[in-house]
Amino acid sequence: FMYRLTVIPGDGIGPEVMEAALYILEVSEIDFSYETAHAGNECFKRTGSTIPDETISTSKKSDATLFGAVTTVPGQKSGIITLRKELDLYVNLRPVKSYEGTPFLFEGLDFVIVRENTEGLYSGVEKYTDDGAEAVRVVTRGACERICKFAFEYARKNMRKKVTAVHKANVLKKTDGIFKDTFYEVAHEYNDIRSEDFYVDATAMYLITKPQNFDVMVTTNLFGDILSDEGAGLVGGLGLIPSANIGDKNGLFEPVHGSAPDIAGKGIANPSAMILSMCMMLKYLGEVEESQKLEKALTKVLRDGKVVTPDLGGVASTMEMAEQVKTIFEGL
Ligand code: NAI
Ligand code: MG
Repeated sequence: FMYRLTVIPGDGIGPEVMEAALYILEVSEIDFSYETAHAGNECFKRTGSTIPDETISTSKKSDATLFGAVTTVPGQKSGIITLRKELDLYVNLRPVKSYEGTPFLFEGLDFVIVRENTEGLYSGVEKYTDDGAEAVRVVTRGACERICKFAFEYARKNMRKKVTAVHKANVLKKTDGIFKDTFYEVAHEYNDIRSEDFYVDATAMYLITKPQNFDVMVTTNLFGDILSDEGAGLVGGLGLIPSANIGDKNGLFEPVHGSAPDIAGKGIANPSAMILSMCMMLKYLGEVEESQKLEKALTKVLRDGKVVTPDLGGVASTMEMAEQVKTIFEGL
């Protein structure tokens, strides 16, 4: 086998969309072997852990991990957050792309948000004070440098023309000052790619007034979290949005949606987000052509709109939609 994958189906619709995606992968020209590992609520009920050590070590050993979705267990550590930390997946990559036939707000959008995934306001350092509480916003030069480098490298590899840094350095003078300065130091090494920076509040507005202007956006953890959900809103529907978590040695690919208990077990979850996450994985593994073929097959199914799930106005089941994508993918 060329690649060893870890597959973590999870809970609710997680296993349903995972089955659909793996079904399509069967006809890929690339050889995969995969090991199933567990995380989430069902796993917690069986093993007492939302993310057993075995899952972490399996994931560490493999070339990439596909993650479905999990149901959060209150009071328990989050499986996905633990995995991101353990594998040092410091990049969260969220494409914002409008596909014909889907309920997007703007036609022709195609940009990506590169979010720093390890520090910022989500450093986890929070404490109560006499009169309230405080959270610590951690910004290190090292983390800024690697995330900005990633953004520019990504731009170069993907024929993107511009990288926009998003910050609030006018108020957060020290933390975002370092982020912004580091961004321009890194930008210096990439003269072939344009660079610019915006304040986060202005960016929130531009995302609605002129989102076509963005190409690659790079930002700190909290801003990235918020702006990428705003991005998801621009291209309509949780069932369509994939994401990648990437580090120097590992990559984990997952739809943005959760376990969707309201539709779980009905076989009607939209597999698109999981399929697009798999496209991102193929690209990460260097299988660019295969990734493009798979995306093309899905694009066609979405555009035709005949064999799509109820959230897209169709009547197809998850597996019927996957079957359609598989048939087209195989013929490309
Ligand atoms: P959710 O994303 O599971 O569902 C929100 C709404 O979107 C629901 O109406 C659902 O039916 C719909 N939806 C989501 N994915 C869909 C798909 N593929 N096709 C069609 N419709 C889809 O978010 P919710 O309901 O807030 O959370 C449910 C559980 O998932 C919670 O336990 C939450 O903590 C967890 N969660 C897990 C995530 C993960 O594993 N990374 C991310 C977000 C939530
Ligand atoms: Mg979020």
